[in-house]
Amino acid sequence: MIFKTRLIAVMLLMGLSGSVQADDSLYQELGGKEGISNVMAEMLYELAGDDRIADQFADTDIDRLHQMLTEQVCEISGGPCTYTGEDMVKIHTGLNITNADFNALVENLIIAMEREEIPTTAQNRLLSLLADMHHEVVGL
Ligand code: HEM
Repeated sequence: MIFKTRLIAVMLLMGLSGSVQADDSLYQELGGKEGISNVMAEMLYELAGDDRIADQFADTDIDRLHQMLTEQVCEISGGPCTYTGEDMVKIHTGLNITNADFNALVENLIIAMEREEIPTTAQNRLLSLLADMHHEVVGL
């Protein structure tokens, strides 16, 4: 009986505090919108000096890319953002992106996250979410 009462109390509290929400722990660990923006800026800086893939971004509006990546990572990490960019398959189709290109970008991202002192567990969670997008980027 006591257990049942407590269960109801917990359920009420969860309802009142609105805690039945999406998990935003990864978003928080990445430092929120500002932290994600910083990581993406570092990654693009790193990428610009990476001979393996820099040329592929020669005609890209980097400010827009920065903004779109920040929105996207904010959204997929559980943050309060909505990605407003192009469909992932559509934007990457015809770019002939290879596995090696994908891995190079991931390396740049890891360097950026290390520099921004993102905890390793959070790094791995983000990398796993991006790995899920591999088929929307590579071989199109
Ligand atoms: C999981 C990995 C990746 C994610 C999440 C991602 C995400 C994005 C996003 C959000 C955009 C901007 C879309 C827009 O402007 O509306 C974009 C554009 C672009 N991406 Fe990726 N991308 C990934 C991997 C790659 C790789 C590996 C390359 C090549 C090395 C690449 C090359 C490009 C280029 C060149 C553009 C600009 C295309 C244009 O402006 O027409 N992406 N990507």
